[in-house]
Formats: sequence, C-alpha cells, structure tokens
Amino acid sequence: MTTILIAGVAGFIGSNFARYLHRHRPSLRLVGIDYLSSASVYSTIAPLVEAGALHFVKADINDTETVTRTYREHSVTRVVNFAAESHNDRAILDPTPFMLSNALGAQQLLEVSRKVGVERHVHISTIEVYGEQAPGAPPFSAASPLAAKTPYAAAKAAGDLIVRAYMQTYPDMDIVLTHAGNNYGPWQFPEKLIPLCITNVLRGRKIPVYGDGLQERDWLHVEDHCRALERLLLSSRSFKAGPGAAIDPAQLPIYDISARSVVSNLQIVRLILSALNRPFNDWVEHVTDRPNHDRRYVIDPVRIESELGWQPEAVLEADLEQTVRWYVDNEAWWQPIVASSRRLQFDWAALKI
Ligand SMILES: NC(=O)c1ccc[n+]([C@@H]2O[C@H](COP(=O)([O-])OP(=O)(O)OC[C@H]3O[C@@H](n4cnc5c(N)ncnc54)[C@H](O)[C@@H]3O)[C@@H](O)[C@H]2O)c1
Repeated sequence: MTTILIAGVAGFIGSNFARYLHRHRPSLRLVGIDYLSSASVYSTIAPLVEAGALHFVKADINDTETVTRTYREHSVTRVVNFAAESHNDRAILDPTPFMLSNALGAQQLLEVSRKVGVERHVHISTIEVYGEQAPGAPPFSAASPLAAKTPYAAAKAAGDLIVRAYMQTYPDMDIVLTHAGNNYGPWQFPEKLIPLCITNVLRGRKIPVYGDGLQERDWLHVEDHCRALERLLLSSRSFKAGPGAAIDPAQLPIYDISARSVVSNLQIVRLILSALNRPFNDWVEHVTDRPNHDRRYVIDPVRIESELGWQPEAVLEADLEQTVRWYVDNEAWWQPIVASSRRLQFDWAALKI
C-alpha cells in the first residue's frame, strides 16, 4: 500500500494536489500535515477529511516528534513537501517565519524522511530561487546559479541548497527537487495576485497594480502542476544525483515545471477584467510598487517533457477565464476569508520597512 504524506496540505497547491490524487489515484492513502498559517484555511480540505479520503494532522514540520510519529503510524512511503510561507509581501515585513518554514522546515522534514526511511521525498520549490532575469535573457535552468534576492526567495533558495546537500550526501535517498512558475487556479488564498484581483472586483473594489504592472511572470495552471508532480512522485524509476553532480548541478534530479506562458501582470489584469466583462480603465489603479520587486523570471520545462513525457494542457486565456468563473461560483469559500482577514493588500507608500 502506498501512503503519501503531503506537507502544506491546506495551502493552495497542496490542497489541489490532495484533491487531484483522490480523483485520479483513489487507491493511494493520503496523510496531510499543515500548521494552518493565517494564509491557509481548513475549509479548503475539510470535505476530503470528512469523506475519509485524507487523514489530517495539524502540526509544524519543524515539530519532528509529531512528524516522525505521523510517518510511523501511517507507514508513509512517499512524501511531498509544499509547506512554506509563500507571500512575498509578508516576507518583507516579517522574514523570520519564512526562514523557519522554507529553510529549516525543509531540512527537518528531510531529516525525518532520512531517519524513518521513505521511498521518495519530493521538495517543491520555486522559479524565484534563480533571482531576476534580464529582459530577453534565456530561461533559467537547473545549472543556473541560485541568485534569490527577496526574503521569500532567499528562504526558498536556502531550502534548495539543503535539499541539494542531502541529494549528494545521502545517495541512498531518492529525492526530487522541483521549481515551478507562478500557479493559478481554484482555492488560492485571496491575498495573491489573481484571486485578489477577482475578489476585489466582485466586492466592487479596484484592482491595485504594483508600479507599471510590466513585471513578467511564467504562469502555470495548478492542475498541470499536479500532473507533473504525480509523475515525479509516483514514477517507478529512481532519482539520484549523477556522478558529476558535485561540479555540474544539471546532474541533480531537479525538474523545472512551466507552461511557457509568460505575460505581464498588467496582461493578467486585462484578462481577468475581460472575463468579468468590466472596462479596464474603470477598475485599475496603479499603486506604489513592492520594494525589490522582481521584474522577470522564466524557466524551461524541457527536462520533465523529455524524461517524463509531461506536457501542460491548460491554455492561459481559457483557463484563467475558468479560474475567474470558479471564484464567481465559490463566494461561499472566499467571502468568510476576506471578511475575517486583517490585511489582504499592502500599501507600500504608507508602510515603513
Ligand atoms: N503559488 C505559486 O505560484 C508557487 C509557485 C512555485 C512554487 N511554489 C511553492 O509551492 C509550495 C506551496 O505554495 P502555495 O502557493 O500552495 O502556498 P500556500 O501559502 O498557499 O500554502 C503553504 C501551506 O504550507 C503551510 N505551512 C507553512 N509553513 C509550515 C510549517 N512550518 N509547518 C506546517 N505547515 C506549514 C501553510 O499553513 C500553508 O497551508 C511552496 O513551497 C511554494 O514556495 C508556489
């Protein structure tokens, strides 16, 4: 029996992945861990738990005693770690929780996987560890230097270095590291760009666009991300560092996941407003940009395409429209969140850092 442990299961991608596995791989047993940060909501996974499809443990991944007990009690065989503090704006105001979850937490969970022994440990990271790209520069790859420049990305990059160290120091472990572009889709906490734009308009508020809005992002539908991770997590092949990995990081089992859908934030806002049938000029306000905001990043999924036969299925315009539709149809999920959340958007003209 294969038992999958999903860390960060109550977040956007982790909860989508749990639902995806439940739908497509019903024979798997699913165990989820999450400490339910202020950016996650239990109602996102409650239906799965109530249906008996997911066993949920509320715990910090740094609580190795509880995590170890969970691995043992449920005979966990494969692990996927989504657990991270993930909002760039919040990381500027208070970087410490980001370091604890994204760097130390990454190591603590790996250490439990090493001590207890699992078949595979997949660590989810981000395009942002590579830093900012010059206009027109080729996509980043696993061989690119880690050059994160924001507190969120630096904490994730620290996690990456720890994962790489485990890959090379403990060759018996089967570890995979992934980087994905910006995800969009249902169940994303309404402080992130796309759900913030949609829920603002649905509440009669304007969309705040940071600076000129020409920051470019590499957009990936969360369902495409889940299909890529399913292959990496469940593939029967083994993932190991190659013999020359010490001087060539391209020989590490690192997979970049992208749909090659690179557009500006302003273009995303245009697509959302068009899906909601609202005139652009009436619903957009340019506001002070976030400090140290990355202008552009792009990765290339050629390795996962060629080695695992993964291809994205979503088409940005059509699937973003579907996403907008989801938030229109699921106010019952996001209204209580926006009503109870202290701050979903940040006024960088007024904030002191
Ligand atoms: N959203 C994106 O566009 C994107 C893109 C690429 C990579 N990623 C990565 O994917 C992962 C998931 O991202 P997301 O968008 O779902 O984030 P999210 O913030 O929606 O979810 C993260 C979840 O992890 C939990 N968590 C955080 N620290 C924890 C800890 N110490 N112990 C237990 N639980 C903890 C939170 O409570 C939350 O439920 C992150 O590692 C992120 O860096 C996200």
